[in-house]
Amino acid sequence: MQQMILDVDTGVDDALALILAVRQPEWNLRAVTCVAGNTDLAGVVTNTMTVLDALGAQDIPVAAGASRPLLEDARNAAHVHGTDGMADLSLPKSRRRPETAHAVEVLRREIFASPTPVTLVPLAPMTNIALLLRTYPEVAANIERIVFMGGSASVGNATPVAEFNTWHDPEAAHIVISSGVPATMFGLDVFYATTVEERDYRKLATSEDPASRLAGHLLGHLAKVNAGDFRLQGIGAAGLGDAGAVCAVIDPEGLSTRALPVEVSLAAGPARGQTIVDHRTKSSEQRLAHGGARGTTIDVALAVDEHRYRTLFLDALRSPDYG
Ligand code: BDR
Ligand code: CA
Repeated sequence: MQQMILDVDTGVDDALALILAVRQPEWNLRAVTCVAGNTDLAGVVTNTMTVLDALGAQDIPVAAGASRPLLEDARNAAHVHGTDGMADLSLPKSRRRPETAHAVEVLRREIFASPTPVTLVPLAPMTNIALLLRTYPEVAANIERIVFMGGSASVGNATPVAEFNTWHDPEAAHIVISSGVPATMFGLDVFYATTVEERDYRKLATSEDPASRLAGHLLGHLAKVNAGDFRLQGIGAAGLGDAGAVCAVIDPEGLSTRALPVEVSLAAGPARGQTIVDHRTKSSEQRLAHGGARGTTIDVALAVDEHRYRTLFLDALRSPDYG
């Protein structure tokens, strides 16, 4: 059994990622840690437990972490995710309580308790992960890889050049990317690529399985808020978003990556939070002057097999066990 931990800001597409991760028979989702991002921390924790309830996965530990980025105030994304952070579907509130320990302690505990190295999957601003790596750097020895949704090798969404998660906490993104832990950046270059057609999410929304029904409603919400976005394939299609990063963990063959230097722009001003990806192959003035490229070389996802990932996602929900 392979071991995974998700760090989320649930979040409509984080919810889709949770559903996909729980429905993988060959993966053990050891814990889910929460951070402020798409909505405030309390909302993220509630939404996360609501999704796990729909999945019948009440035994997976959920822990609250950072309520704001390292330097700046929290800024939510209600215009995409709704005022409750999960599409304002008026879902029943979970009766579960999160762990009493802080997310950083739960991450440390679960990483060390894991029988094999853990794949850590941040789908949110990386505040919790930066705090973890600074507080307990020794956890790196039992982390297989960090596969994070964040950044972009092209354009941004929160700003013209910065993606939401790296823009929300640029210092945290810098700490994680430069940590030396093997990392894959699942950025905006692939984030919008995998979509579900309208007929499929409408069908999910009428399923007898509560998690499939939830996925159908969430995808319907995403189709509405992203209608007309030039990055989505097909009219009425809904993007898998963060769930695409979980696809990349489960089925890395569907992802094309290149090892490239990445540097997070930390300066105040219009480029703050941008991930500057160095695609150049030749010597440059900068490289000659500095004796090498700036940034840290990580695997940057540049293309995705959309059909393969769409099928992976839908198969997890269409399984005969789940209606
Ligand atoms: C990222 O920001 C959030 O809106 C999504 O959940 C995703 O993690 C995309 O920029
Ligand atoms: Ca997210």
